Amino acid sequence: MPLWRKYRPETFDEFYGSKRLIEDCKAYITKGDMPHLLLEGPAGRGKTVLAEILRNEFGLGRMNYLEINASNDRSVKVIRGTVKNFAQTARVGSVPFKIMLIDEADGMGKIAQAAFKRTMEIYPHIRFILTCNDVSKVIKPIRDRCMVYKFKTMHYTHMERLITDVARKEDRTLSKELATAIRQVVGGSPRKAMNILETVLVRADITVAEIHQMVGTPDEESVFAMMFSMLKGSENAPKRMKAMMDTGTDPEKVIRMLFGLAMKGDKLDWSQRTVILRTIGNLPGATAEQRLASIVMTVATRRRKP
Ligand SMILES: Nc1ncnc2c1ncn2[C@@H]1O[C@H](COP(=O)(O)OP(=O)(O)OP(=O)(O)O)[C@@H](O)[C@H]1O
Ligand SMILES: [Mg+2]
Repeated sequence: MPLWRKYRPETFDEFYGSKRLIEDCKAYITKGDMPHLLLEGPAGRGKTVLAEILRNEFGLGRMNYLEINASNDRSVKVIRGTVKNFAQTARVGSVPFKIMLIDEADGMGKIAQAAFKRTMEIYPHIRFILTCNDVSKVIKPIRDRCMVYKFKTMHYTHMERLITDVARKEDRTLSKELATAIRQVVGGSPRKAMNILETVLVRADITVAEIHQMVGTPDEESVFAMMFSMLKGSENAPKRMKAMMDTGTDPEKVIRMLFGLAMKGDKLDWSQRTVILRTIGNLPGATAEQRLASIVMTVATRRRKP
């Protein structure tokens, strides 16, 4: 069984993350009622997991719970029809309400959302849990009818704890370095963390650099090495770059990391930072932030007292 399934939390105790969210949810359970919820966040952050835990804790069972996807291909008619059907079938057992999870609510157009807003109010015995990537794409009247929770990225302390706990449950101790490396490459997604960990656990001798290679993110050490060779004008610089490319590192991510290192400025003097930031900021595809850094460094360099 894959780790993401085996360790899919079924209770709040197994759910890693925001204390406030968990406290709120526990309060809903104690009260025996909950508001409509709007969960904002990208894939693999625990939105569906949370809805399922609420279902379990309210004792709803599968018959009183329905999950649908609202993305573009579904007309508002279909959605309203589904809601109506679900609402009109009797509740199974003596439960206070049913829960309907509507994924990708921001995939509904504005008009569909306006119609859905009314649907939300018709049925007293349904609580909606809406999920979306971007809460600003959900119309205000819907937002106002929901408690909104953000699931953007799992905090790094929770993430590292999740990773090491799952490894331990699989009878493996992960070094701090490996746990940190996994956390760094998964960008706040616990689902991705479970998938990377899956591979890490079958390879006893895996290194930090290999973990970075698995997802194409450069490891800081290699980028530092390339950066110092190029700053010294060493012929090793292109060799180091090629070595990174050969292992499948994404060059876009190397540029971003170089930019980050030069902005931070650790271990670099002023002229080294300037040459890197100006070069990046003057590239055709540079972001606004990178162009701005180039302006700042160019002007500041000119104005600096000798
Ligand atoms: N808070 C958490 N604690 C521990 N594991 C978690 C947590 N949240 C998510 N996971 C892990 O991530 C997996 C995916 O979670 P989930 O299905 O809830 O994602 P989602 O946010 O609904 O994503 P999608 O937008 O793709 O539907 C779970 O099976 C579980 O392994
Ligand atoms: Mg989901």
